[in-house]
Amino acid sequence: MPLQAPDFARWWPPNVAKAQWDGCDREALKTAISAFVEQRFPVYIWGPTRTGKTCLAALICSRASVPRMIAADELLKQIMTARRNGEANCNLWDGGFVARSEWQILNWCQAASILCLDDVGTTELTQPQMQALLQIVNSRQGKPLIVTSNLKPERLREMVGQRIASRILGGQLIYVGAK
Ligand SMILES: Nc1ncnc2c1ncn2[C@@H]1O[C@H](COP(=O)(O)OP(=O)(O)O)[C@@H](O)[C@H]1O
Ligand SMILES: [Mg+2]
Repeated sequence: MPLQAPDFARWWPPNVAKAQWDGCDREALKTAISAFVEQRFPVYIWGPTRTGKTCLAALICSRASVPRMIAADELLKQIMTARRNGEANCNLWDGGFVARSEWQILNWCQAASILCLDDVGTTELTQPQMQALLQIVNSRQGKPLIVTSNLKPERLREMVGQRIASRILGGQLIYVGAK
């Protein structure tokens, strides 16, 4: 089955836009679906690079009415720019570049029917970035949130701190291994 929300997928990196359900890790997909059915959020998908984490997350997102997905680092960078300059030229993966204020970016995250933060923990975060991440994760409490990462849970705790990690790891953990 192709990605469902074409307007959403149009802006994605081409490899992600080509994701197919039958290209996903079976077990990971099954676990992700039951997490959504039983509303165990957030869904934390972790494992080595190029194992299909981003594609799996994108496919799940594509079934939502208002799916929003972005690389975590990029999102946090844009929030910091908006804070500094009043607004940032955002590429939020769902409509090209537009200028948005910090409040609008945070609202973009909060108002999604599914939010996916891709590749959390890739770079070291500054204190203000951590605060913004905490705010976003808090604003998604009880709501569909997917976080993907290369980091095993213990490493995530070291990277983003106990407070954020305990929230991100408070739902369903899914490991995707090398094929
Ligand atoms: N479900 C899928 N359908 C099609 N191709 C996939 C799928 N999952 C992974 N791939 C292929 O593997 C590559 C890496 O997948 P990706 O989701 O980017 O991995 P990760 O996020 O774990 O680094 C993709 O560019 C794509 O070529
Ligand atoms: Mg990825």
